[in-house]
Amino acid sequence: MDDNRLRELMDDMSLEEKIGQLVLIPGSYFEKDFVITGPANYLSYTEREVALAGSVLTVIGAGKLKEIQKEYMKKHPHHIPLLFMADIINGYRTIFPIPLGQGASFDPALSKEAAGIAARESAYAGLHLVYSPMVDLVRDARWGRVMESTGEDTFLNSVFARAIVEGYQGEQESDGHPDLTKEGKVSACVKHFAAYGGAQSGRDYNTVELSERTLREDYLPAYKAAVDSGCETLMSSFNVLNRIPVSANTHLMREILREEWGFDGVVISDWAAVGELITHGIAENEKEAAFLAIRAGVDMDMCTRCYSSNLEALVKEGRVEERLVDEAVMRVLRLKNRLGLFENPFKDADEDKEKSYILCDRSRKTAEKAARDSFVLLKNEGLLPIRDMNDTAFIGPFTDSGLLYGAWSIFAAEEDTVSIKDALKNAGFSSPVAKGCVLCADHELKGMHGAAIAAIKDEERDERLIKEAVLLAKASGTVVLTLGEPNAMSGEAASRGMLDIPRIQQRLLREVAAVNKNIVVVLFTGRPLDLREISSLARSVLVVWQPGSEGGNAIVDVLSGRTSPSGKLSMSFPYSVGQVPVHYNELSTGRPYTPGDDNKFLSKYIDIPNAPLYPFGFGLTYSEFEISEIKLDRDVMRMGASDRITAGVTLRNRGSVEASEVVQLYIRDEYASAARPVRLLKGFKKVALKPAEETEVVFEISEDMLAFWKRVN
Ligand code: BGC
Repeated sequence: MDDNRLRELMDDMSLEEKIGQLVLIPGSYFEKDFVITGPANYLSYTEREVALAGSVLTVIGAGKLKEIQKEYMKKHPHHIPLLFMADIINGYRTIFPIPLGQGASFDPALSKEAAGIAARESAYAGLHLVYSPMVDLVRDARWGRVMESTGEDTFLNSVFARAIVEGYQGEQESDGHPDLTKEGKVSACVKHFAAYGGAQSGRDYNTVELSERTLREDYLPAYKAAVDSGCETLMSSFNVLNRIPVSANTHLMREILREEWGFDGVVISDWAAVGELITHGIAENEKEAAFLAIRAGVDMDMCTRCYSSNLEALVKEGRVEERLVDEAVMRVLRLKNRLGLFENPFKDADEDKEKSYILCDRSRKTAEKAARDSFVLLKNEGLLPIRDMNDTAFIGPFTDSGLLYGAWSIFAAEEDTVSIKDALKNAGFSSPVAKGCVLCADHELKGMHGAAIAAIKDEERDERLIKEAVLLAKASGTVVLTLGEPNAMSGEAASRGMLDIPRIQQRLLREVAAVNKNIVVVLFTGRPLDLREISSLARSVLVVWQPGSEGGNAIVDVLSGRTSPSGKLSMSFPYSVGQVPVHYNELSTGRPYTPGDDNKFLSKYIDIPNAPLYPFGFGLTYSEFEISEIKLDRDVMRMGASDRITAGVTLRNRGSVEASEVVQLYIRDEYASAARPVRLLKGFKKVALKPAEETEVVFEISEDMLAFWKRVN
């Protein structure tokens, strides 16, 4: 349909019907068996509102969605199709590593491929839109949602934002939009705009207070990268930003997003965020909340009745211009049209393809590679790769577990996940295994979406498991300890004040370490943890994040030396929680501290170091790489021209195995009109080299890489 026909369609709709297009309701109105991803306090839609609501979230399944679509369209006054959306974050059923792990792979092309697979699986299951990528800059490991981001660096996040959007939607055509009618393509939704990751104290939903410069230089570029890649929709965030809640923040959504960036896609509120303007204390009631949100530029109201029960009155009273509603409706209709829903309301929903494609071997291969390449080797005193797998005991609560995916994998199944125990068998190893302890015995955790990890206190069981583990550890040459956070400890509403592993696991580590020094820790986590004790007791430490469907195979592959680890931390692992937020790209301060300097009046702690235990960008391989001094072709750049300086190094593998190294380009602006970070990542290349092989790695430095934000007026 062309734009004129869409407009004619809209002009023919009643105001009530138009407002329906701006209403996004949960799938619980269609499906009993529904994964709830937010509070239910605003969910009391009338039958009429449900009948007119233009979009639905979190119901899945080709057959079911076709049925819902058919029934709905039959009754809808203009037979406008529903838009089906869901939280597909790092995979639909084939689960890839959590985004923090994908960031650590420093391989955006691989994430693009993974997003392509997730899009296709989702599309066959009847979905049209996925709530991803999440590109919030994250600096505070206490925040549970760091697992959903690609990390603490603006440039890295921007590169991944672009890759993931292209993976879901395909490349942009000449009009700046992708062809979403193509089979297997869905609309992306970049979130959470903006700066949701800056929550004070790392506490979820908390206040964000940032200078305009920090916002623009550090936080906004990744969202902009997604928008510039043609991302069709954007989710506005829950938080207050500089005292104005985002859902009412005209500066952010009208001035920056629409006017400066020219974003013409749909802005979707986060779950109940419009209604929450009341609890933020800036709207007296739902009607005022609707008024503030539509004025600020929220097109679609997710999971509250603010729009559905108040916008019509607001227009009729003349407080909201109908033009504002029309603009938002047109954006929604255009999106439906770009997806081809007016011609084919089921899009790619297909029960046969759902069966044959989802979790197919090819996708699993990509999931295995993505997992492998995300692992970060933090320490290796000679134990890895393991020489004798059969003389190695695998001990720990993650060894025989299918729960190797993150909290946002809401459609994943443990049975579809390859455990470490299964993988050992698959690879023909007869390594003995023991559970050692339960995931967490001293907390009671409610998983994000209903999955409860019941921490039943059972001292007899705990003693028995530890005793078995200690006996096995004593009798084995090497021990691989699988430790870490259960997945319900990260994700939404899972902030933590302590960055440790559960106490029962700490005990397991100590007791095993008392009888065997050859410990490799394989660490599962959704966030950076304080690894001081693990690092001191283990001779090797491999971070595997929450690796997904092929986690077990990827881990066994790397531990046994078939592939070298190649990941680099996407977020700094602090020395202790007291340093948090700690990130590599800090400013120098007027009194910078260099370790060893005993001058008192310097910017430092008196009891802990300034540096994180393991910084951003760090990660070992099984080989050894040598990087030469940087060679620049010139030292002066002509500003204003499209001048480039090339910076090159020679990278040499001087170890004995093939491995990949990530060469990272950092710049520092030594004197500028504003204080600049001590280092800023501006480029990276991941290069695989065989032993004794070498190659030139060249980066081009352009003016925009050196520029920073300056207020013009
Ligand atoms: C989260 C979003 C998510 C939405 C829908 C919210 O609670 O913040 O990231 O997309 O729920 O499930």
